[in-house]
Amino acid sequence: MRKLVAALSSLAVIAVHAQDGTPFEARLTVRVDAPGAIIDKNVYGQFAEHLGRLIYDGIWVGEGSPIPNTRGIRNDVLAALGKLRIPVLRWPGGCFAEEYHWRDGIGPRAQRPRRENTSWGGIETNAFGTHEFMDLVELLGADAYVNGNVASGTPQEMADWIEYMTSDSGSELANLRRANGRDRPWKVRFFGVGNEPWGCGGNMRPEYYADEYKRFATFIHDRGDNRVLKIAAGAHDTDYRWTEVLVAQAAKQIDAISMHYYTLPTGNWQRKGSATAFGEDEWRATLARTLQMDELIRGHVAILDRYDPQKRIALAVDEWGTWYDKEPGPDRGALYQQNTLRDALVAALNLDIFNRHADRVRLANIAQMVNVLQALVLTDGDKIVLTPTYHVFDMYRVHQGATSIPVEIAPGPRAADDRGAVPPQASASRDARGVLHVSIVNLEPRRPARVHADLSGARAREASGVLLTGPALNAMNTFERPSAVTPARFTGATVAGGGLELNLPPRSVVVLEVRD
Ligand code: AHR
Repeated sequence: MRKLVAALSSLAVIAVHAQDGTPFEARLTVRVDAPGAIIDKNVYGQFAEHLGRLIYDGIWVGEGSPIPNTRGIRNDVLAALGKLRIPVLRWPGGCFAEEYHWRDGIGPRAQRPRRENTSWGGIETNAFGTHEFMDLVELLGADAYVNGNVASGTPQEMADWIEYMTSDSGSELANLRRANGRDRPWKVRFFGVGNEPWGCGGNMRPEYYADEYKRFATFIHDRGDNRVLKIAAGAHDTDYRWTEVLVAQAAKQIDAISMHYYTLPTGNWQRKGSATAFGEDEWRATLARTLQMDELIRGHVAILDRYDPQKRIALAVDEWGTWYDKEPGPDRGALYQQNTLRDALVAALNLDIFNRHADRVRLANIAQMVNVLQALVLTDGDKIVLTPTYHVFDMYRVHQGATSIPVEIAPGPRAADDRGAVPPQASASRDARGVLHVSIVNLEPRRPARVHADLSGARAREASGVLLTGPALNAMNTFERPSAVTPARFTGATVAGGGLELNLPPRSVVVLEVRD
């Protein structure tokens, strides 16, 4: 924690000294001679909770809607998300998962109960339930991550849900699924045993939750060739004790343990900061708080390494992203927020961190997919806009399933002049075709970065790339101007002497394709 505070206090120094537009100089070493673990495609996962206008409006419009749809799911959102090759989608919460009873969401829609959504307000019609969610993941070609209810549910209810979804037997539950229109069982790859049990998921102590976890997990069964990976609800931020107790008591039954960390510009839940109205100080504070993800992962991984040195248990960062104050103006639903170039950098920094921790971080889900928090897509009636965060996910697709390549970044020879400015951040991977991809983020709001990159043990022959930047710190895509922030060809890479000279514009994300 002390290190986190020190990192934050250095922001004041950064804000004072790094005002000029001289390039920040850095050296990047891409350790192609020391390949690491496979970057699990599932770290590029998404999250869709029954919250605000995410499910209803954002995804589900119903079969009778004038908005073009496939069995009630809007086609424009499907097309946009389909392009990203989303590997996994978490549902139905979040906090909502802990009040959700799956039987409410099956059978004829007109007969489904209307209930209060006590987590996020409004009435839950249950029009979008298990069949609709499974249809969505199949249309997206993604794996299902279903989050179960521990706090207000029972092990029996959880076990029944899994049987309903995955059984091919002649049991009553499998036959009920068939009667409701789905003959074949679905695949459920991931199952979350509760959500945030230290808070909205029951306000439990880790010792108590560890016992509950074991009780519930005992009744999660594999059927046929479906293997359910059981995810224990883990800590938030620096609650290392939660991870320690849980893994000490229940490691044998855990396949993955989650961790939640949100980026708040101010770090203060009462006054988080605006999504769009911010200056250079909040830009820097936001990115510095994002970089804390690396230290948090190291902290939780150090505990896991003691109990599970073989790295069988994955760390699942299944909620991450920016969280701002409610927007002024018309109410666009709970936790709706705009998304700017700053969010693009937050996404890129987090994904780079996950890529670099590929050996342990094997699942991650940005919060959330549409119209809520750090969304990839915003909708308004029949309109849709792709956010800067969407474009980062598109650019970073190349890392999915590739081999992680370690990177080292050091300030260049003029570091002494830089007095605290933040060096570019990066990650790299090699795909199945042997192509190297290097993603680099220049966090400096006004200074370009000049990066000399070497491939240790290899020579670069050709490089091309894609760039995302914008004319202002808060450049954004709106329904009126949907293409203000879009990727463009990167022309700042030159191959020289087997290495690369890179000129990155200020506030930018670049993904390079390098052939060696
Ligand atoms: O993503 C919004 C909420 O944040 C989730 O419901 C909860 O798990 C977390 O606190």
